[in-house]
Amino acid sequence: MRQFLNERLPLREFSAHLRKPLPRHINLLFSLGSLAMFLLLLQAATGAFLALYYSPSPEHAHNAVTYISEEVPFGSFVRGLHHWGASAMVVIVFLHLLRVVIYSSYKAPRELTWIVGVLLLLVVLGFGFTGYLLPWDEKAYWATVVGVEIAGTAPIFGDFVAKILRGGTEIGAVTLSRFYALHTIWLPWLAFGLVGVHLFFVRYYGSSGTPQNTPEEMKMGKPFYPDQVFEDVVGMLILFVVLAAAALFIPVPLEDIADPTNANYDPRPEWYFLFLFQLLKYFQGPLEIVGTFVIPTIGILLLLFLPFLDRSGRAVLWKRPVALAVTSVCVVGIVGLTLLGASSPKLETTDTTTAQETPQPTEEVQKPATSDTETVETEGEEAVFDFQLTDEELEF
Ligand code: HEM
Repeated sequence: MRQFLNERLPLREFSAHLRKPLPRHINLLFSLGSLAMFLLLLQAATGAFLALYYSPSPEHAHNAVTYISEEVPFGSFVRGLHHWGASAMVVIVFLHLLRVVIYSSYKAPRELTWIVGVLLLLVVLGFGFTGYLLPWDEKAYWATVVGVEIAGTAPIFGDFVAKILRGGTEIGAVTLSRFYALHTIWLPWLAFGLVGVHLFFVRYYGSSGTPQNTPEEMKMGKPFYPDQVFEDVVGMLILFVVLAAAALFIPVPLEDIADPTNANYDPRPEWYFLFLFQLLKYFQGPLEIVGTFVIPTIGILLLLFLPFLDRSGRAVLWKRPVALAVTSVCVVGIVGLTLLGASSPKLETTDTTTAQETPQPTEEVQKPATSDTETVETEGEEAVFDFQLTDEELEF
């Protein structure tokens, strides 16, 4: 069999390529990229499972998520893996970026690897933003209202972007459908495409190793296969055990079903957007746009073009005083604003008038609505959501 395949495929060349030695001094921080890749696959697998039960309409989404958490075998575990996996993804990608900065691995000839990496970071944040709405609970709804309003403050195309995201003038059935499509189709295609290009560049240029390597040492380290692969797989197993423990022991929050009339709700974004949310508090009135658009846009542009802006030679971060100062200010700023955002007190949100009008899930898990007569009464574009689901379709 082996001979048959060897005669037809370049397996020996491929195996020799995998066994090529990496640079010396490669440490555990060099496994962060592989961990990010593992998490992307885990999110795709757990997301595919959740999609079997989820239904992206305001009438069914919240009940479907409750049903997954309380009735579906392993549903709560898989939802937990997906939820904590999303947070882990942000942390791991951020640490991977930091490791690239620490060893100045973004410098020539790896500028394109870096730029694709920044796009991947934005895609990861896009997953977080679009996924947050899907449970259609109070926090999902109101955080999205604020998020879309923030997008709408951008000059020239802000209104257009907000309208495209909402699918109309208000957050509703079309918005949920759009966010679901972005979360499960557009962003995954984009992510896997970008990861493909990213990995092509990584293999094409080879690992940059650490700056302390001499040119000879660049080819004197352990082989990628089996040594580095083994370390990466151990890292993935440890990460999985941590996520599984979180999924088993820390409940994933689900608030009451979204109530668009509850104007007293104090919206909070997911923790990885808290630094932006906190930043907005310092820019009120006419200065609002500085927090919503100017600073984030400048930040993203500086990050994208960092390899072309930083013209210093290759050295570890602590030997580059300017880079060290800028990186420290950014990291301390982001972590500090996140902590401030997390500790700012929540407003009282009791609104007795609207609470009574709002359909709340009962003690017993409500299966997604099954009324034969149920339709979604909306106008214009939202009328496409006039559909009925039969009992059989909803029995799962
Ligand atoms: C889903 C997100 C990402 C995935 C799956 C991913 C994956 C990887 C992998 C597997 C490697 C090779 C192993 C390593 O050096 O750790 C790598 C290297 C690299 N990544 Fe990423 N990455 C992601 C995001 C990013 C981000 C956000 C940046 C920076 C903005 C970035 C910049 C780089 C660079 C410059 C290298 C080359 C490093 C070197 O040659 O030493 N990546 N990435």
